[in-house]
Amino acid sequence: MNVRLEAYRESAEYIQCRLPKIPKTAVVLGSGLGRLAQELTGRVTLPYESIPHFPKSTAPSHKGQLHYGRLENAGCLLLEGRFHYYEGYSFAQAASYVPVLKLAGVENLILTNAAGGISHAFLPGDLMLLTDHIKFFDDSPLRGENCDELGPRFPDMTKAYTPGLLHTARKAAGRLSISLQEGVYAYMPGPQYETPAEIRALRTLGADAVGMSTVPEVICAAHCGLSVLALSCITNLAAGVGENPLTSEEVVETAGKSVGKLADLIREIVNLL
Ligand code: 6GU
Repeated sequence: MNVRLEAYRESAEYIQCRLPKIPKTAVVLGSGLGRLAQELTGRVTLPYESIPHFPKSTAPSHKGQLHYGRLENAGCLLLEGRFHYYEGYSFAQAASYVPVLKLAGVENLILTNAAGGISHAFLPGDLMLLTDHIKFFDDSPLRGENCDELGPRFPDMTKAYTPGLLHTARKAAGRLSISLQEGVYAYMPGPQYETPAEIRALRTLGADAVGMSTVPEVICAAHCGLSVLALSCITNLAAGVGENPLTSEEVVETAGKSVGKLADLIREIVNLL
């Protein structure tokens, strides 16, 4: 058996044994968005260190905990903290929890992140629904031997952002009167933010926002057949778009201000699924 698959199965079995139930939706919390975990009722928490083969989370404000609980009436898993290429992980390691969730029985993956606004239509604090992404950077979580049990060697990415979930997110935002931007997310590996020239190039290529996460997970989800919804909190304007220098403190602070709105939206979405 593929060695990666064996590790994924061991992680999935551990999670299945320790949680009362595996809900159909898992939500991954990005930078500064961890507070959503406090909204869960009937919470059961597994620290990442306790889960076999899980990487360690080192990014700012990424705690490293898997929670189970209910958001209003719907059960869900919440992953507080994720893994990034800039921490030294490969894309495969960064996204390794995605096949684990699939093998555990999850069907829908909701990914959140903090991102820089490239589109002139965006302001800090806006929420953006990802309709597509651009990743020219050369790693892929699927590089190396294919895990045929999970999915095909050459997965289609045409509908990686699941149309049905895009529809659900728009409906949820409409019900709550939350204004939801939509756009294309450009993946950049970081940890340095981009230069103004890189941001102008990304805009010319069709990007609306930029960030250092999410895309490895979306690729893995497309491969193993998990439905995906991804939401960016636009925490700042990207380099050269606004006047201010970029800081991770600003990112975490703005994310903190928008987390309530994001929590309302995610609660509504999870309950509609
Ligand atoms: Cl401007 N760039 C990147 N790569 N990630 C970000 C960001 C910018 N703002 C928040 N996260």
